Amino acid sequence: MNFMKGIFPIEKFRQLRTPFYFYDTKVLRDTLTCINQEASRYDNFEVHYAVKANANPKLLTIIRENGLGADCVSGGEIKAALQAGFPAEKIVFAGVGKADWEIELGLDNNIFCFNVESIPELEVINYLASEKGKVANVAFRINPNVGAHTHAHITTGLAENKFGISMDDMERVIEVAGELKNVNFIGLHFHIGSQILDMGDFVALCNRINELQDKLEARHILVNHINVGGGLGIDYEHPNRQPIPDFKSYFATYAGQLKLRPHQTLHFELGRAVVCQCGSLISQVLYVKEGTKKKFAILDAGMTDLLRPALYQAYHKMENITSEEAVQTYDVVGPICESSDVFGKAVDLNGVKRGDLIALRSAGAYGEIMASAYNCRELPGSYTSDELR
Ligand code: LLP
Repeated sequence: MNFMKGIFPIEKFRQLRTPFYFYDTKVLRDTLTCINQEASRYDNFEVHYAVKANANPKLLTIIRENGLGADCVSGGEIKAALQAGFPAEKIVFAGVGKADWEIELGLDNNIFCFNVESIPELEVINYLASEKGKVANVAFRINPNVGAHTHAHITTGLAENKFGISMDDMERVIEVAGELKNVNFIGLHFHIGSQILDMGDFVALCNRINELQDKLEARHILVNHINVGGGLGIDYEHPNRQPIPDFKSYFATYAGQLKLRPHQTLHFELGRAVVCQCGSLISQVLYVKEGTKKKFAILDAGMTDLLRPALYQAYHKMENITSEEAVQTYDVVGPICESSDVFGKAVDLNGVKRGDLIALRSAGAYGEIMASAYNCRELPGSYTSDELR
């Protein structure tokens, strides 16, 4: 049976080896257009893409063409961003453990800013910059101790997390930076977590930044850049209902709640919200196994291709895109020798048979990039809708 079900070019899919990631570039471009429209209502907002969500060169190129900067957390990501043509002056480098070669890579390419997470790191950046006769822009990542209503593994702004400098230490670290000759302190950086849908969490962050800014201003410390990280969530349950996240409310929340000083630029680092809904993992059914109480649909994709369900018990909507048979209930599992290699239990799918194609939706973020070769498996391929037209 060959037919178009929804948004997928099934006939083209049939010629490709599964599993692979499929990226709908129209969804990505529409998302980027919306981001630019909503952010440009405010003349001092700058949006960076968090490369960690997906570093596929085809997507990076489209994102760069749409003018976003790049937020990188490793030397590898800096290289990927440069290769995709992101200008160095739009690259920021964050991360709690930057290796010397990664810092040197950033210095050699004159990236815009290092988001620094500790005094020892600041001192190493200062030393490496002095060796090169350079001055590095640095921002401090402050841990705002704001809890986000999301999965415990992806909450990052609480005091007990490994990330950032505590608010109590902030002024001391700024003083240290003032004494170092090869770093230039330019801003404050925050990030409270990921997959956040409650705008109240972002309001809490704004309130905290307002307090910190007042405290700094009382000491005549001015910064030009405030970076509020990423975190805007997406609708995993209904990928078709609202494929473009609510950027309007997101940016309006910051514009309304954050007391930016006139000279300040506000930076965002969005990952998931940019790329998640444009991607699906396309997989083939190898076997349907009749258990005593349930049926298993065994796919050729597993946790090595899409780790989120096994790692975070994350939900990804599944669709049998090659069947219109009556709906039945299956446990959908992968082929990996791990009992956590399960995509979903009691999943309703149109009647499944060997050879059917199953789409795992909302897989554009933290999907392909988190794939591994465990069990000596090949990494999944990737195709864009432009290529399969
Ligand atoms: N900025 C910083 C400092 C971050 O740590 C992160 C994500 C982002 C920006 C981008 O956040 P986003 O806009 O994508 O929420 N692998 C997990 C998500 C880990 C997020 C880590 N940090 C998942 O699959 O849900």
